[in-house]
Amino acid sequence: MKSLSQEINIIKEELITAIASVTNETSLEAVRIAFLGRKGKIVDLMEQLKSLPVEEKKIIGPLLNLLKTEIQEKLDTREILLKKEVVAKRNLLQKNFDVSAYKHNELKGTSHIYTQIIADLEDVFISMGYDIADGPEVENEYYNFESLNIPADHPARDAEDSFFLEKKGMLLRTQCSNIQARAMEKSQPPIAIFSPGRVYRQEATDQTHDFLFTQAEILLVDKNISVSNLLATAHTFLRKIFNNESLEIRVRPGFFPFVEPGLEIDASCPFCISGCSVCKHTRWIELLGTGMVHPNVLRSSGIDPIIYSGFAFGMGIERIAMIKYGINDIRLFHSSKIKFLNQFS
Ligand code: DAH
Repeated sequence: MKSLSQEINIIKEELITAIASVTNETSLEAVRIAFLGRKGKIVDLMEQLKSLPVEEKKIIGPLLNLLKTEIQEKLDTREILLKKEVVAKRNLLQKNFDVSAYKHNELKGTSHIYTQIIADLEDVFISMGYDIADGPEVENEYYNFESLNIPADHPARDAEDSFFLEKKGMLLRTQCSNIQARAMEKSQPPIAIFSPGRVYRQEATDQTHDFLFTQAEILLVDKNISVSNLLATAHTFLRKIFNNESLEIRVRPGFFPFVEPGLEIDASCPFCISGCSVCKHTRWIELLGTGMVHPNVLRSSGIDPIIYSGFAFGMGIERIAMIKYGINDIRLFHSSKIKFLNQFS
């Protein structure tokens, strides 16, 4: 029979071989159990130690304790190494990438061209002291027509031109001017508002017409407001929007029931000096409907036209964008065509 000290040496050898064969945490744990577990080799030797004479116990006992510590240390060292190996393997895998792998084209979002033009206009009008005002798209006939001096027999009120709803007297607003009437009713002058929003008209669509488009309405009411304030404001904001300090404006008479006098403002073509396709070789581009707010409109909103006067503008956001960016079809704006939209990122 082998002596205990011989067995200690054998166990040491076995441990070296066992640890050398460890490849992962499970096999390391198996070695730990085989040597230090409840039914392991060390416990077995401890049992045998009990039957030895006292003198031998004194020698072998400490040797066994030493062996136990040694095994523990070897297992711990192996465990640390194992963890390092796992990390190193993972790092290696991460570095190995396939350069020929298919890459998805990233879809980068951008704000819609409407949002961009409206934000630019808002910046200009906020810098001139205007507030931003909003109003409902589902409107009643009073705010869409009557309060704006558009009587019941006006052709604009024809069911052919507007989207009337089943609920009597309600429609999808045909213009953003409805916001004027609501703003004037709510507060007394001075009133200075910029109000962008969607409008709806029942019309056949083509490159320059759509049943849904976007307008912005501008209203200033105060004491002593005159046509010259109107012209200066139009001139200033058009120069800023088209980023062209030498842009000129031209004024023609126009008719809109809610203004008197009514005017139309054209801007000199920002792209040419002698005619081009954008201005259809006329050098001028029609841009704004405008005028001095009709006394009837002021009166119906509770504002005294003897004391106050004001001007209002209406413009098509798409029209501004189409001219600014050379877009040739208004229907593209809400087509959701990514190719179109991405151009404005
Ligand atoms: N609401 C008019 C339209 O939709 C545009 C307009 C014209 C607005 C003249 C105005 C204005 O405020 O004074 O065609």
